[in-house]
Amino acid sequence: MTKLRLGVNIDHVATIRNARGGAFPDPVRAAKLAAAAGADGITAHLREDRRHISDTDIERLTRELDLPLNLEMAATSEMLAIALRHRPHAACIVPEKREERTTEGGIDTLAMRDRLAPLVRALRENGTRVSLFVEPDPRHLDAARALGAPVVELHTGAYCDSRGAERLRHLQAIREAAAYGAELGLEVHAGHGLSYETVGPVAAIPEVSELNIGHFLIGEAIFVGLQAAIGHMRQLMDDARSGARA
Ligand code: PXP
Repeated sequence: MTKLRLGVNIDHVATIRNARGGAFPDPVRAAKLAAAAGADGITAHLREDRRHISDTDIERLTRELDLPLNLEMAATSEMLAIALRHRPHAACIVPEKREERTTEGGIDTLAMRDRLAPLVRALRENGTRVSLFVEPDPRHLDAARALGAPVVELHTGAYCDSRGAERLRHLQAIREAAAYGAELGLEVHAGHGLSYETVGPVAAIPEVSELNIGHFLIGEAIFVGLQAAIGHMRQLMDDARSGARA
């Protein structure tokens, strides 16, 4: 079974900073602490409206960080130019709506095929690993493969937001999508809304090689500190992976 990587999303350190302006708390400091706590990568979403992560944060993260940076970005020419300039290790293409509170769903790879194709090609040719953030639906995995994206990140939001039988149904869709993605030769990641309560069953899916987790970890850090929160999440992931808890 492949090792399961943890990407820590630091967007909401920047959300707290921006609530008051100024420079505190510093997301780059959080990224360095995350590295020390066992994160395998750092994820940051540069939104069109810059509501949390800023252009300077991205510049500093690419310059100061030893861990790979996964830049979440909308499929726009502005974001493409930024990604080409900074050449992050990875870019995850997400849908973005100005009025949403968070990334509400996966990208519509079918409707956006013509916009995505040149973007995926340009990023790949520039040396960035491209992933598409999609709902766990085989049509989007077929489209990702056809577009030449080597990675898909499965949206776990509906699974995390539901309960009981409905949650199990969403989990099953994630399991099936992960298996199908691997069959197509795609690297499969997952994320959105994951917490201590929901991470285990997703971490136990053998085809999933990376989880990206942010909001819960930054919130939990208020109570126990960032390193302890990440350490506990890492432990739950490793336990689930080794079959100790699922
Ligand atoms: N993966 C992607 C593609 C996302 O857009 C987000 C949210 O920015 C996450 C993972 C992390 O989600 P959360 O902050 O809910 O853990």
